[in-house]
Amino acid sequence: MKDAWIAPSILSADFARLGEDVARVLEAGADLVHFDVMDNHYVPNLTIGPMVCEALRKFGIQAPIDVHLMIKPVDRIVPDFAAAGASYITFHPEASDHLDRTLQLIRDSGCRAGLVFNPATPLDYLNHVMDKVDMVLLMSVNPGFGGQSFIQSTLGKLRDARRLIDDSGRDIRLEVDGGVKADNIGAIAAAGADTFVAGSEIFGSKDYRATIESMRGAIAKARS
Ligand code: DX5
Ligand code: ZN
Repeated sequence: MKDAWIAPSILSADFARLGEDVARVLEAGADLVHFDVMDNHYVPNLTIGPMVCEALRKFGIQAPIDVHLMIKPVDRIVPDFAAAGASYITFHPEASDHLDRTLQLIRDSGCRAGLVFNPATPLDYLNHVMDKVDMVLLMSVNPGFGGQSFIQSTLGKLRDARRLIDDSGRDIRLEVDGGVKADNIGAIAAAGADTFVAGSEIFGSKDYRATIESMRGAIAKARS
């Protein structure tokens, strides 16, 4: 089983002090920076692009940056994010007409590639591209906003995705995004996730370290 990674979503960070807030959450024990990119087209909200990713790198952020693209089209911006210092780039299959090409483009740009599944999007998209995927990300809310409630049917879908990944024998992370809290992360870990995005739960707390530690504690308990 892979080490559990906690990925704070900077959607809930202090954008006026982004560098400091991201540094603070990493010092508090986070493993990777979840970077939500929205275009007011694929999803009804607008956030940040490659320039902000580059600015975080220039500020000195060295942790892996997990770029979650909620944009359509996808391909045009991939090389820009790679040049800006992205580590993982994930996208929604509905947002690209050529999944195989987009996955290959991400890898050719030097990043790890992932597919993101909305709550009602079937995992079938994985069937013919398992060899080009480094991350499978299951949305446990509809994408676009932080602070929504976890959709319970994601637990069964996580178990299905876990089985697909294990059967493939490949080195693929299974990430979950949306409504992840200290009080449900144990059940999410038990269903097979190894990478946990949490925005409002972490950035909305006073003590980032205590929140991340309580999440890790719940994951360890669920795994034991
Ligand atoms: C939603 C984003 C999430 C969001 C999660 O579209 O992809 O990453 O920030 O926020 P919380 O943890 O508050 O549900
Ligand atoms: Zn996200």
